[in-house]
Amino acid sequence: MSGARGGRLPAGEERARLVREMFDRIAGRYELLNALMTAGLYRRWNAAAVRASAVRPGDRVIDLACGTGSLTRALARRVGPQGYVLGVDFSPGMLRRARGGPNIEYRIGDATDLGWVETASFDAATIAYGARNIPDLDALFSEMARVVRPGGAVVCLEIARPQGRLFAAFYGLWFDRIVPRLGAAVSGDPGAYSYLPESVREFVAPGVLAGIMERNGLQDVTWRRLAGGIITLHRGIRGFVEGGG
Ligand SMILES: C[S@@+](CC[C@H](N)C(=O)[O-])C[C@H]1O[C@@H](n2cnc3c(N)ncnc32)[C@H](O)[C@@H]1O
Repeated sequence: MSGARGGRLPAGEERARLVREMFDRIAGRYELLNALMTAGLYRRWNAAAVRASAVRPGDRVIDLACGTGSLTRALARRVGPQGYVLGVDFSPGMLRRARGGPNIEYRIGDATDLGWVETASFDAATIAYGARNIPDLDALFSEMARVVRPGGAVVCLEIARPQGRLFAAFYGLWFDRIVPRLGAAVSGDPGAYSYLPESVREFVAPGVLAGIMERNGLQDVTWRRLAGGIITLHRGIRGFVEGGG
């Protein structure tokens, strides 16, 4: 499943460049806008992702597409001073603004190409609001499965389009109309916040995402909707046999 998903957004290298440059531009306002657009609820969703990762004090976690480190910091609090969290992102601007801690390290890198990360060297791998920006989901999840030890969790938090009529109507108003305007006003970058609803529209359905995780070495894949369906949380376990079987 590489390349375009048949929508209006570009694929491959062009998409990567567009996304990287966009996050470089909005990095300074990203966390403020996140807090405004989710009414602070992003913290709860981060907490759900941390729980799904099942990490404990002393564990090692890799957080891909970590941006300015919102989920990275929540994971670092969970694994504590004896643990370690590696945040990876390909936007230098986002990483420059990422706040660290004694048990956090940030590295620049592409989430679909982690050749420099040792196989089975982490207890869990997470990605929050990053998968939607990555056209090659097979490359992403095969790398996430590879770097996690057998029995470790791979967790993906994403934005989705809700199904119920009431939520869908609210979502249409909020996400398609208010978010692009608010984003443009606060970040000064209209393109970035019209890309956001567009990227959600073009992203694969939750059931399809679960299938992609399964065919890349993850077992017991489950997913659930949060916040009336505007957020999805997927979780899979790295199999004990090569290829997940
Ligand atoms: C919406 S932000 C999410 C940041 C953070 N995970 C959070 O929860 O706030 C998406 C991030 O994905 C990063 N990203 C997109 N594609 C990537 C890739 N192929 N490799 C690494 N980072 C990527 C972007 O640079 C951006 O920082």
